[in-house]
Amino acid sequence: MLNNIAVFVSGGGSNLGALIDAISSGIIKNAHIKLVVASKQGIFALKRAENAAIESAVYEKSKYESNSQMFEEIIKVLKEKEIDLIVLAGYLNILTPNIVQAFSGRIINIHPSLIPSYCGDGFYGMRVHEAAIADGAKISGATVHFVDEGTDTGEIIMQKEVAIQEGDTAETLQKRVLEVEHKLLPLAVDYILNRRDK
Ligand code: GRF
Repeated sequence: MLNNIAVFVSGGGSNLGALIDAISSGIIKNAHIKLVVASKQGIFALKRAENAAIESAVYEKSKYESNSQMFEEIIKVLKEKEIDLIVLAGYLNILTPNIVQAFSGRIINIHPSLIPSYCGDGFYGMRVHEAAIADGAKISGATVHFVDEGTDTGEIIMQKEVAIQEGDTAETLQKRVLEVEHKLLPLAVDYILNRRDK
């Protein structure tokens, strides 16, 4: 049976690209990206969706009275499209409880550190890597986890470490962590859809 995935994005979408490639090469089996949900117009992730002929939709917070109302709209569309799994791949809005509850156990996120280090409120994008470098940490990495109502607090699915090298900057570390993310996220999606005891 084909599982319908919705990928939520806010930026370049390199993880979306990794998922598209992993589905076409068979690393992720029985899956189809049915929708890309973007938090703003003009991001490269939308171009990637278009190039792969995947439907996309943009939901901007400023157009709604509340975040919860925006997610109510998104839930409706996800249900119409019979989405089985939501993958947050660089999505910068915090999910409100209505969507977390509507898709309980069926939302995953990729975070660019080894949770529980460098995660939670304020730890997003380059800030995660800047904090690891500032601390003189020797190891960082990437984590795929389930999403619950907290920020980066849900059950961990997979992690992979990345050594921090002498002379690393936040930028060089981010680059190496992203390379690991692009392998880890497809493996985690395939695990959830096809290998985990259901
Ligand atoms: C990744 O580092 C991901 O872990 C984080 O946001 C970044 C998204 O990058 N949540 P991209 O848009 O997939 O290139």
